[in-house]
Amino acid sequence: MRALVRSREAERIARDRGVDETVIGDLEDTRGLISAAVGADGVFYIGPAFHPRESAMGVTMVNAAKAAGVRKFVYSAVIHPSLSKLTNHAAKRPVEEALYESGMTFTVLQPASFMQNIELEWKRILETGLYALPYSQRARVCYVDYRDVAELAALAFVTERFDNGTYELSAPGGYSRIQVAGMISEALGRKIEAARIDFDEWADGAGLPEGSSRRGMQRLYANYDQYGLLGGNGLILRSVLGREPRGLRQFFRELAGSAQKAA
Ligand SMILES: NC(=O)c1ccc[n+]([C@@H]2O[C@H](COP(=O)([O-])OP(=O)(O)OC[C@H]3O[C@@H](n4cnc5c(N)ncnc54)[C@H](OP(=O)(O)O)[C@@H]3O)[C@@H](O)[C@H]2O)c1
Repeated sequence: MRALVRSREAERIARDRGVDETVIGDLEDTRGLISAAVGADGVFYIGPAFHPRESAMGVTMVNAAKAAGVRKFVYSAVIHPSLSKLTNHAAKRPVEEALYESGMTFTVLQPASFMQNIELEWKRILETGLYALPYSQRARVCYVDYRDVAELAALAFVTERFDNGTYELSAPGGYSRIQVAGMISEALGRKIEAARIDFDEWADGAGLPEGSSRRGMQRLYANYDQYGLLGGNGLILRSVLGREPRGLRQFFRELAGSAQKAA
């Protein structure tokens, strides 16, 4: 397995996680991408959200893989690429189109919001007793554990079952932050309240610098405030994995358990 990375530090992390070879490169460098892909049977691609050139990078990666003679391309995109007001969703559509027109065998994964995002908030949740984000506590969001998405990505390379398919991947259900805080409370055995905070307070706390990611997150949360992120039909994920998808309750039990072990 070969990974494309941008720095020596990322190279070290990738190797620690089991990658055999690394190539230092950039998604904006077509020639570098072609040489990185030469000799590979397949490419797994996940693009940087909110990057002003996310679509162009994805299309470049598809073209580079094709030019390098790659057979199979697995693209980890996003649920509902038709949400045109959200750049992190709309940016996936041109990449999907390029892939469908490339002639390569494809598998497109369209994941819901990653449960792992909540892990990024975990320290603050434990410290404050609040699960606080800058949109309505009542807006419902659908989630997926990225380990389930990764399992399907791996299967897509070793079997033909998922060839030329596009899969909307969500665990069952859509949950408000009030409901999510209830599940976290159950897992921790102490009360966690859902709260709403100002966007800048949240972004500063998350260490998000000024720029396209911060602006993109602001647009995303304003959109969630109005519409949530609806989805949450678990039929596809259950069917492709042949088992029940990992759910939020299980995810929080694991997080609470690893915090206990570390203490
Ligand atoms: N988070 C979610 O809930 C969610 C849900 C569904 C879909 N998605 C999609 O999944 C993807 C990943 O999202 P994320 O939130 O996990 O991470 P992210 O913040 O979008 O990922 C950034 C990654 O892109 C790399 N990158 C940035 N510019 C690059 C360039 N010019 N060349 C090569 N690599 C570059 C960064 O590398 P460095 O480490 O070197 O900076 C970093 O590893 C996005 O497309 C997002 O829309 C996310």
